[in-house]
Amino acid sequence: MSKNSIINTLAKCAASASNQSLSALFAADSNRMSRLRVQAPGMVADLSKQKVDEKTLNTLIQFADSCGLPQFFAAMADGAEVNKAEGRAAQHMALRAGKDANAHALGQPISSLVADDLAKMRGFGQKLRRGELTGSTGRPLNTLVHIGIGGSDLGPRFIAQALHRQLNPGITLRFAANLDAADINDALQGCDPETTMIVVVSKTFSTRETLANANVARAWLVQHLGADAPRHHMAAVSTNIEAIAAFGIMPDNVFAMYDWVGGRYSLWSSVGISLMAALRGGAFDELLAGAAAMDEHTLGTPLEKNAPFLSALVQFWNRNFLNLQARAIAPYASRLALLPSYLQQLIMESNGKTVGVDGKPAAFAASPVIFGAEGTNAQHAYFQQFHQGPVPVPVDFIGIVKDAEHNPGQHNGVLANMLGQARALMVGKPAIEIAAQLREEGVEESAIERLAAQKTMPGDRPSSTILLDELSPFCLGALLAFYEHETVAQAVLCGINPFDQWGVELGKKLALDLESRLNAHNTDGMDPSTQALMERINRPD
Ligand code: F6P
Repeated sequence: MSKNSIINTLAKCAASASNQSLSALFAADSNRMSRLRVQAPGMVADLSKQKVDEKTLNTLIQFADSCGLPQFFAAMADGAEVNKAEGRAAQHMALRAGKDANAHALGQPISSLVADDLAKMRGFGQKLRRGELTGSTGRPLNTLVHIGIGGSDLGPRFIAQALHRQLNPGITLRFAANLDAADINDALQGCDPETTMIVVVSKTFSTRETLANANVARAWLVQHLGADAPRHHMAAVSTNIEAIAAFGIMPDNVFAMYDWVGGRYSLWSSVGISLMAALRGGAFDELLAGAAAMDEHTLGTPLEKNAPFLSALVQFWNRNFLNLQARAIAPYASRLALLPSYLQQLIMESNGKTVGVDGKPAAFAASPVIFGAEGTNAQHAYFQQFHQGPVPVPVDFIGIVKDAEHNPGQHNGVLANMLGQARALMVGKPAIEIAAQLREEGVEESAIERLAAQKTMPGDRPSSTILLDELSPFCLGALLAFYEHETVAQAVLCGINPFDQWGVELGKKLALDLESRLNAHNTDGMDPSTQALMERINRPD
């Protein structure tokens, strides 16, 4: 079948989707669970509460084939130029493939670089944990302040929160990202300069926020310990070795990054140095192993059982054929509270685009609006709209099977809430049942119709549920790699490049210009709105 006829079939499937409720889909197909519940390393992904029937699923799989989805991933793993706009490979998988992987980027061997970098990171981490890294006054370093933003911040920050129980108790780990000086001030607050190491992470080493915060931290060190202190108390991760040297960071404390790894895919690189050091020994390697296991699953499993690919197909269907423009991420675990922010960057910075790799308008949209927060908190905030708002919002529920807090009562409570929400979204509650209940409660007949209408839950609202085996480094590595592959797969289905981010450039340029204008009180040539706002900012009384 040609690609066009596959798309036509999908459009027909979409037209009939509203005639069959989710509950009816289960009743009609005894095979549904075995098709839509897929096992992958560290997790099971249940996509059966998504609005796809067997025909839709088969057609979506045909569509993935017609787009060359498995071939794209094979080329990516081979280090081909999959990021055409920037002439780069996208070799985040090589970062976790091990030293014998024989990986390449644009034909250049990279596995030994990766192995050397990891060995250097391990050495740094071991020394720090053993108290062998000392500052300018000879005291052991025991505090890391990680400065970076976006892809150079969100991954390490998320994992540090998620693996809180695996952080070495002797090491304090703090983060600063925002240009708002409150962030770096809070991060340095209470740190002892003599025992603090500042880790500056920036792929380009030119990012305004990161350099500003690094300058504050360097001045803080100099103020307390003298001009020589940054040599002993600062480390950096970047591709820009000249800029790091100019900043005054010693080569021993410099960790490499490469242009063949995009910022939002870089957690597995030296960007994870603070984690390698602050987590118990071996934990970072287990994170890599979990991601590598998911890579193997993704590269080696047929589409029908491939968890990231099937999930990508479902999301592609939701966005483009059911016209659902948002997607919520609801991890049912406090320690996964930062997952929605991490995925927001991963998915929206990768796929928030409308022009295809060929420079023409893309035929499909790859990214819905991504937002979310952890359950059960989120239920008491915005879930109301999920149940009764005008447009369904597909939800990714993420639960953890093993109870790490040794409180089975509350653990089951959390998971029961997650299951309850997914079920309520699916089955809803019809007006007729509500009216009967109101009658039973003795509500006056004149009020029943109005109240029943207000209390009706339409149901038939889709969701996916991912159950992680446990909150371990391995499972987290697998989870993040699952979402990486799902994101790239959606881009392939839509014909866009998930590895560039031209859209963020204009705002950065304008901000630089506006900063110098604000400093000079110069509003010339600005639009009336910006001009009035600048005038108010320049009169802070
Ligand atoms: O503003 C976008 C961005 O380039 C992200 O893609 C990146 O993760 C972040 O800024 C930080 O960039 P860098 O690591 O170069 O400081």
